[in-house]
Amino acid sequence: QENFVGLDVGGTTMKAAVVTSDGRPLSAPVVMDTNPERGQEEGLETMCATIRKAIEAANLTLADITAIGVATPGLMDIKAGLILDPPNLKPWKNVPVRDHVAKAFNKPTAYQNDANAAAYGEFWVGAASDAKSMVLFTLGTGVGGGIILDDTIIEGEHSHGGELGHLRIAMPDTGRQCGCGARGCLEAYASATNVVRRAREDMACWRGPASKLRDYYTANDEDFTAKVIFRHAAEGDELAQKVVDDTAYYLALGACAVIAAVDPEMIVYGGGMVAAGEWFRSKIDAYVKRFGLPFPTKNVKIGFASLGSDAGFIGAAGCARLLVLRKV
Ligand code: BGC
Ligand code: NA
Ligand code: ZN
Repeated sequence: QENFVGLDVGGTTMKAAVVTSDGRPLSAPVVMDTNPERGQEEGLETMCATIRKAIEAANLTLADITAIGVATPGLMDIKAGLILDPPNLKPWKNVPVRDHVAKAFNKPTAYQNDANAAAYGEFWVGAASDAKSMVLFTLGTGVGGGIILDDTIIEGEHSHGGELGHLRIAMPDTGRQCGCGARGCLEAYASATNVVRRAREDMACWRGPASKLRDYYTANDEDFTAKVIFRHAAEGDELAQKVVDDTAYYLALGACAVIAAVDPEMIVYGGGMVAAGEWFRSKIDAYVKRFGLPFPTKNVKIGFASLGSDAGFIGAAGCARLLVLRKV
């Protein structure tokens, strides 16, 4: 049995654990704050510290580790191992993540987009482990995407393969503003941040029945999150249900685009919102069947992730394993 460290770097926290060659984490993940505002030098140090602590948490030493995998949000250059200029890691720019980690630990180091890694995690040992091809959408601060066809992560020529948060689902002049600078991206509608923004707007012009969501918002403006909105929807609040229903609709538009492009066996959604469960899944499913190409969409499975927030580091470790497997 071989051991791989997977590190998943997010805008708020980073997580790492040692994962075995069959995709099993040897401990709960070590979690540290990313603090991108403190600069990239400190960021690289924190990455190394998180990896070191993960090895300790598994009661192993560096000699027990075969390879390391690191995942970060885009924009990035996967082949060069660089973070470029990601909106969620400001002010980092041109950070040589892969080479820094490889040198610090003297181990083969894989580098991947965070959502591509999460997709690989779900494909390897999660919700899509029986599928031959799959597409993952992660619904967080951003909307991430990952496309896996025949055991291969689609990175594309410019590391932008699978940047599905930036699928255009509305017109580029009138659509909502996205963090990438463009308008009309899926992320501008369906990220957790933008679900909250839409809810605020819907609330301002709501003419329906009295809404507990609106009462909650008035009293707890600070703590008004996607989670709160989904909870109110599950409890029957009509305003919250409109926000959730629109979210399912936008996600389905993204799914239909991806079905037309690659026709995967399965589409999986991950991130906090999928805690809502089957009623939310079936809404997305229904819209996909209504708007997608009739033949493939009838057959594509729409599912929710099973690894939760572990998918990123498990998948990053999986990428480290692939790197070594494919070299020998
Ligand atoms: C970035 C993706 C990333 C996603 C989730 C998006 O804004 O473009 O690269 O996977 O956020 O972090
Ligand atoms: Na991606
Ligand atoms: Zn965008």
